[in-house]
Amino acid sequence: MARAMWDSSVGKKTVMAVSGLIMLLYLIVHMIGNLKIYFGAAEFNHYAHWLRTVGEPFMHYEWTLWLVRIVLVVAVVAHATAAYRLSRRDIKARPVKYAHKKARSSYATRTMRWGGIILGLFIVWHILDLTTGTVHSGGFQEGHPYQNVVDTFSTWYGNVIYIVAMLALGLHIRHGFWSAAQTLGAGSRTRDRVLKTVANVLALLLTAGFIAVPVGVMTGVVS
Ligand code: HEM
Repeated sequence: MARAMWDSSVGKKTVMAVSGLIMLLYLIVHMIGNLKIYFGAAEFNHYAHWLRTVGEPFMHYEWTLWLVRIVLVVAVVAHATAAYRLSRRDIKARPVKYAHKKARSSYATRTMRWGGIILGLFIVWHILDLTTGTVHSGGFQEGHPYQNVVDTFSTWYGNVIYIVAMLALGLHIRHGFWSAAQTLGAGSRTRDRVLKTVANVLALLLTAGFIAVPVGVMTGVVS
């Protein structure tokens, strides 16, 4: 049953929609949490510490965080695998290339593929930068994310990488949220209009909210 579902394209699209919505939920929380940087180092670092102690005393130190990490890894892998399989199927279904470049794949499909690849690379960079500190520009300090974020956005390439990724994220969510809604339920015309507006507003708020952090550092409001 699960196998037959996965083998169908509707099954893979459902996997993409559900895993995408899980990641979207995480991003909304992450974006709001990041804005706490405007309340100063003590509050931001305290918040980061709380992320590791949520659920205590029932949960041990970092257990909740690890649970969230596991859910996210499963979601990312499922999302990427389904996307890859769907695009392989597209290519296989069309052994003869189109003569005209324009007719090959729609603008949205190409944006989603490239956007997905950019975001995948970004997530790797982001974890190496602000979680493990491996590629961090300053002296990475565990437990002091405020200073680490300021260091990241004090380099030109830090700003370029994050801002480009956030723009890709906005486009990806705008189309992705809309596609997920199409997959998960048949729409009426009114409902479609509402969903399109929700997709646009969500994409805009997330992009602007995330970009507010590098902008804060660049303008000296966060230092
Ligand atoms: C300007 C934008 C962003 C900033 C300033 C930012 C900042 C941070 C910081 C400081 C941490 C480490 C928190 C800690 O260890 O306490 C973190 C973790 C993380 N961020 Fe972001 N983030 C941004 C955008 C994003 C985006 C767009 C994504 C996903 C596409 C993302 C995914 C993650 C993940 C998955 C972690 C958790 C890593 C882990 O602890 O396992 N972030 N972020």
